[in-house]
Amino acid sequence: MALTFPVYPPARYAGESEPVKRPKEFACFSYDKNHQFRFNDSSLKWYYPPDIGADLSHGSDTFVKHDDSIDEHLDSLLRTIAFHERKTGEPIDAHVVTWRGMLTKIMATPFDDEGFEMNATLYRDCIFIEEHHAFKQQKKQLENNRGKQRTPPSLMQFWGYKFETLSTIPRPWGETSREYIESRDSEIVNNKEQYCSVVRTGFGKSIVCLGGEVDAIWDAKPETPGDPINWVELKTSAEIRNHNDQFKFDRKLMRYWIQSFLLGVPKIIVGFRTQDGILSKVEEFKTMSLPYDVQRRGMAKWDGNVCIKFTSLFLEWLRLSINDEGVWRIRRQHKSDHIELFKVEEVGHGDIIMDEFMDWRIKL
Ligand code: A3P
Ligand code: MG
Ligand code: MG
Repeated sequence: MALTFPVYPPARYAGESEPVKRPKEFACFSYDKNHQFRFNDSSLKWYYPPDIGADLSHGSDTFVKHDDSIDEHLDSLLRTIAFHERKTGEPIDAHVVTWRGMLTKIMATPFDDEGFEMNATLYRDCIFIEEHHAFKQQKKQLENNRGKQRTPPSLMQFWGYKFETLSTIPRPWGETSREYIESRDSEIVNNKEQYCSVVRTGFGKSIVCLGGEVDAIWDAKPETPGDPINWVELKTSAEIRNHNDQFKFDRKLMRYWIQSFLLGVPKIIVGFRTQDGILSKVEEFKTMSLPYDVQRRGMAKWDGNVCIKFTSLFLEWLRLSINDEGVWRIRRQHKSDHIELFKVEEVGHGDIIMDEFMDWRIKL
């Protein structure tokens, strides 16, 4: 039998806001150009403004694309956590461990129709949550096949990565040559390479450990670990030409805000493009003031505090509900007014927790 958690009405989650912790990075890892895992920050990039007028389609024929049909589970995140625990000699204190993308979906739920499926398992007082990979693949297939779009989804996706390549440099400003900066348009776009930040954060009573990709840094990491980092999130979006475009963009800003809020990314830089993928304008947004800016315009109706409170109460409910071993499914069907939770495997932890991590934890 499934347990359910109500999504609506958002007013249920209004009122006094829940205490949140500022996310603090305590570890990081990188994937290199071949998607090989590295216990370091070697794939970190620095922001450097792109040239306006660039063609975001340029180089799409040589795109080196990561194969996302393979289910990577939580493996890289768990490896990084184990590495950190080996250094400190004690387990992390999180109640929940997951990728940032999973909490983005949960946080957006009160104002979004999107359906999702995740797997969760309890191991030593901590809930580990992964994406239900087969569901995601199926959903993507359906979306790709839906109707005839002006621009193929694959090209649109390339524009996002191309913008990242045009807006970043692999070393700090002072150490990068003018030649490199000016030749960024001919760099091969490769989304196998990533820098991932691993943070400790909190929602209400729940301590959460999240891993997620960060696109770039503005200057340098602070000397004191745990101090805020000047991360930059890069996004592309269609130019805003009228009221309706502004409404759509304000809705999109909710996801940008959630995604950045979760890892403590203070600045979002949006590359606006024409219908044909020409970069026409670059604009900076402050993560912290986004919810108020959108509310002031009064078009898109979303409330950051409701997203936070909803997530706090959901995690509290999840921690009460997942109380023994096995694998649980967290499911929200498209437009549904509730999130369901039911068991899919009676014992064990499925493939959520890799053996290497369990072997390590047994020793601890
Ligand atoms: P845009 O966000 O500019 O469209 P992120 O912004 O999260 O760093 O992701 C970088 C790019 O990856 C996106 O650029 C988009 O091209 C692609 N991408 C991210 N999430 C995606 C998704 N759910 N479906 C398709 N493409 C996605
Ligand atoms: Mg990114
Ligand atoms: Mg981005």
